[in-house]
Amino acid sequence: MNQMTGENLRSAFGGESQAHMRYLIWGDVAKKEGFENVARLFLATADAERVHATLHFNALRDVNGDFPVVSMAGFGISNTSENLVAARNGEIFESTQMYPAYIAVAEMQEEKEAIKAMKFATAAEKVHADRYEEAKKYVDEGKDLEAEKILMCPVCGYITFDDSEEACPICGCKADKFIEY
Ligand SMILES: [Fe+2]
Ligand SMILES: [Fe+2]
Repeated sequence: MNQMTGENLRSAFGGESQAHMRYLIWGDVAKKEGFENVARLFLATADAERVHATLHFNALRDVNGDFPVVSMAGFGISNTSENLVAARNGEIFESTQMYPAYIAVAEMQEEKEAIKAMKFATAAEKVHADRYEEAKKYVDEGKDLEAEKILMCPVCGYITFDDSEEACPICGCKADKFIEY
């Protein structure tokens, strides 16, 4: 693998790993504040970021070296409303700046698996941002998110509250493979 794409994938792996842990922690906060469904959304999205970290890790398997710490938006714990803003901002950063730049390099370097991993992640992060925005509207009215089912695509990390979808709009995975939270 080319060095630059390898570094970018390691960086993305670090970012996704940290997002996974951050969402678990913020999920605990939401639970303590009585927002059970927002807590489930954080849990589902934490697992989606683990899907992305795994994709990147697998695309990186022929590269040796250290995993540098990457600085990302959204550190620290606040209340759930503010955590949702920070979570959404991180998703927007990844989908509009980080991944597009990394993908441009990977395309220049014809790194097929890296391109696929990062394109799945880009599309899923955009959806994550929208779901967090929706959750925040409820929380700011003092209500929990209205979501009976929270479903996550195990292939690309897509998240939906709609159990009538037949397949993942990002990767085409059949909806019966979706993980429910
Ligand atoms: Fe995400
Ligand atoms: Fe998917």
